Amino acid sequence: MSKILVTGGTGFIGSHTVVELQEAGYDVIIVDDLSNSKAEVVDNIEKITGKRPEFENFDLSNRADVLNFFLRHKDIDAVIHFAAFKAVGESVYKPLEYYRNNLNSLMNILESMKFAGVRNLVFSSSCTVYGQPEKLPVTESTPRLPAESPYGNTKTVNEDIIRDFCAAEKEINGLALRYFNPIGAHPSSLIGESPVGVPNNLVPYITQTAAGIRKELSIFGNDYDTPDGTPIRDYIDVVDLSKAHVVAIRRLMEGKNKSNYEFFNVGTGRGLSVLELVNAFKKSTGVDLPYKIVGRRAGDIVKIWADTTLANTELGWKAEVPIEQTLLNAWNWEKKCRGIR
Ligand code: WQD
Repeated sequence: MSKILVTGGTGFIGSHTVVELQEAGYDVIIVDDLSNSKAEVVDNIEKITGKRPEFENFDLSNRADVLNFFLRHKDIDAVIHFAAFKAVGESVYKPLEYYRNNLNSLMNILESMKFAGVRNLVFSSSCTVYGQPEKLPVTESTPRLPAESPYGNTKTVNEDIIRDFCAAEKEINGLALRYFNPIGAHPSSLIGESPVGVPNNLVPYITQTAAGIRKELSIFGNDYDTPDGTPIRDYIDVVDLSKAHVVAIRRLMEGKNKSNYEFFNVGTGRGLSVLELVNAFKKSTGVDLPYKIVGRRAGDIVKIWADTTLANTELGWKAEVPIEQTLLNAWNWEKKCRGIR
């Protein structure tokens, strides 16, 4: 039975990926420092799959601890690396923490993989590396643009670290998945997105407003160059996204990769404006949503959505969950968290 190390595996996308890995027959060990998630996520993963992943709680930016982990676990076949600080706004005020944590964690993982003879790495990257693309939809040949935040820059730099490491260490296979906007929750409502404090991202803010936690949604600008004036994004269901990690790991372990560093856009291929998403939420849940239009948010791009041809053809993966179901799953998770029937 192949065993996969999932760093950041108690986080939003990490926990959903652990579920899909286990359901695909992989053994999983999670390493997470719990700086942005809770250990009870491990219990809930077990409730969904009936299998309890192994779990260790330590800081991956500590080089000795990472080396020691690989010395103690000789049966790791591949790594999926999610663990990172990811708040765009916070990264502007704490750039050193973001660079130290996000870059050192990855470098420690790569160094230990080489030392331990673990050959396959899937990396959690982001469409943020494209900035505001000139041409849409975005393909993998679309040039990366300077990131709008230190967080975004850690994704760009980490892709380059993996690219250069794989160029130097031919036996290591790296594959980056460039996520668009991950949203939703597992249909069981046992795991989902749990933002700490006031949510930065749109969908958790919507569900908290619908639950009465927030008074109303502020829509950051409706004077953009889009059909209804609000920004456009490619919102991808977190379970669809998690399944992309399973096919990526399988591609590397079966030696189907065409080079030892690859990257793929992982989106739906469909752009939705903020207002379209708000209306889809209201339609799918039947819940009214108070909102007001306010000024633009600094750093926001106008529009982005993916050309997913490469992932569809090379990975044999395609997003399938309809947006209405995704939003309903997000709402059911919010209600479960708040004890709302
Ligand atoms: C989406 C749209 C906002 C909140 C970020 C990161 C990206 C990835 C996903 C980690 C924008 C609007 C939002 C609100 C609003 N994260 N909005 N009111 O900024 O596209 O992407 O999260 O990998 O890397 O950059 O996502 O959900 O914050 O915003 O109007 O209260 O919703 O202006 O147009 P974003 P988001």
